[in-house]
Amino acid sequence: MRCPPALLTAPPLVLRRLGEPDVPALLQTLAAQVDHLRPWLAWAADDPTEDSVRAHVADTEADWERGTAFGYGITLAGEIIGRCALHARIGAGGLEIGYWVRREHQGRGLMTLATGTVVAAAFAVPGIDRVEIVHDTANVRSGAIPRRLGFVEVSRTPVPRTSPARDAVDVRWRLTRAAFLARAEQPPFPA
Ligand SMILES: CC(C)(COP(=O)(O)OP(=O)(O)OC[C@H]1O[C@@H](n2cnc3c(N)ncnc32)[C@H](O)[C@@H]1OP(=O)(O)O)[C@@H](O)C(=O)NCCC(=O)NCCS
Repeated sequence: MRCPPALLTAPPLVLRRLGEPDVPALLQTLAAQVDHLRPWLAWAADDPTEDSVRAHVADTEADWERGTAFGYGITLAGEIIGRCALHARIGAGGLEIGYWVRREHQGRGLMTLATGTVVAAAFAVPGIDRVEIVHDTANVRSGAIPRRLGFVEVSRTPVPRTSPARDAVDVRWRLTRAAFLARAEQPPFPA
């Protein structure tokens, strides 16, 4: 698979591949956000350490080289405020998006902006015909993002409960290339 760009700009945000020099800042961010992330993201179950974050960044780089996932750091005025990644784990022609943003940056449309930007990058990759987002039904904030961006709900699947906050039902949303192109005529990020 061809890779999306390593750098995406969406003022006021810059999305970029992270590397070894970003480990201290990412560790600081994750350490401050574990309570915010833990209910929804299984990988946040353990407290982050310098070693675990270094290994995560190395894995992310390896994924990018293999073409299995494309993980961006979302930066605002140079500070990492979240992450957004495209995962090639839903079959040929598909990419699934995962995301998180620091609690204090919620509620301003920044993740909708970042996700919309990553969606456009995904459809610029030849052969990509659909992008999907999955979240627990209890994660209302997460579900609002694909809804705003014109995704269509395609399934609800019971899954094992991994935190008390979760309903243990995954909602899957899909945006097809045709629907994405049809929306190109409209304002990209309606509030
Ligand atoms: C899921 C998550 C990324 C959603 O973040 P968010 O801040 O709600 O999303 P946005 O940054 O797009 O902000 C949306 C809000 O900004 C508002 N907004 C303002 N201007 C906007 C604009 N131009 N476009 C879109 N929304 C805008 C929206 O109305 C919405 O307001 P609300 O909070 O009153 O509903 C965040 O809650 C999070 O990181 N959670 C923990 C990790 C997680 O659950 N990850 C997903 C796992 S599936």
